[in-house]
Amino acid sequence: MLVSGKEILDHAHKLGYAVGAFNTNNLETTQAIIQAAEEEKSPVIIQSSQTAITYAGIDELYQMVKGIAGRASVPVCLHLDHGTDWAAVMQCLRTGWTSVMFDGSKYDLAKNIEITKSVVEIARPMGVSVEAELGKIGGVEDHINVSEKDATMTDPDEAVEFVEKTGVDYLAIAIGTAHGMYKGDPNLDFDRLETIKKLLNMPIVLHGASGISEEDIKKAVSLGVNKINIDTELRLAFQQAVHKVVRETPDVYDPRKILGPATLAIKEVVKGKIKMFGSSGRA
Ligand code: G3H
Ligand code: 13P
Ligand code: ZN
Ligand code: NA
Repeated sequence: MLVSGKEILDHAHKLGYAVGAFNTNNLETTQAIIQAAEEEKSPVIIQSSQTAITYAGIDELYQMVKGIAGRASVPVCLHLDHGTDWAAVMQCLRTGWTSVMFDGSKYDLAKNIEITKSVVEIARPMGVSVEAELGKIGGVEDHINVSEKDATMTDPDEAVEFVEKTGVDYLAIAIGTAHGMYKGDPNLDFDRLETIKKLLNMPIVLHGASGISEEDIKKAVSLGVNKINIDTELRLAFQQAVHKVVRETPDVYDPRKILGPATLAIKEVVKGKIKMFGSSGRA
């Protein structure tokens, strides 16, 4: 069934584990994510960026996730990832998303607070949870591009003020992760995470988690991260599986035979992450 993000993440916060938030834009990835969660008996968050929604179509994406989640034996949350446009956030609320992120990290603190607060005022009575971002997470996506020098860590005192004034349900913080794979070893600021978690005592979100070691992920979870975003590693699993079929059996032209192995590959990655995050058996 489709449930709100708050329902899933408040439980994770209370019991000290994290739930994976996996990005989708097509049928194969969606099936892989939900099947993996069912096999692990884990709650799961399925998320799509604004460009993923444009690619698949908002109604198509919603009906697909709702249909598959509706028959699933585990709770599924449908979340808007990095909603930077007011219109995109409102369209997701209207269509039936159960969680939205308003990403105002490009604005100054006052403007980020002002818009995030308005989103919360509209979403809360609809039963839809809200994530916001404070600080700037580095890396490149379709429509956001934050260079290493522009990435800024989340300030703990600002985080307290931000949450008090906006009333968001969970907060994405910048502690040194970046979107995409890493060139070197990422250096995460665990002290900052620990401080922010103690001050806020609420669900914390980690973006850019593809490429972070199991050891660092487990440490982040033990220090209070409750939602972990994974996109790039799913894309790589998809690409490698498709490439293998095309390379080894160039005569195959049935899309099911080309894409079926990609579904299985993504499912294995998602199951591994679910185990690592500690949400197996929590559904
Ligand atoms: O953090 C963003 C996700 O990886 C989605 O990226 O805008 O290319 O769909 P995208
Ligand atoms: P990765 O691409 O590093 O997995 O980050 C995903 C993400 O943060 C989506 O919001
Ligand atoms: Zn992100
Ligand atoms: Na990453």
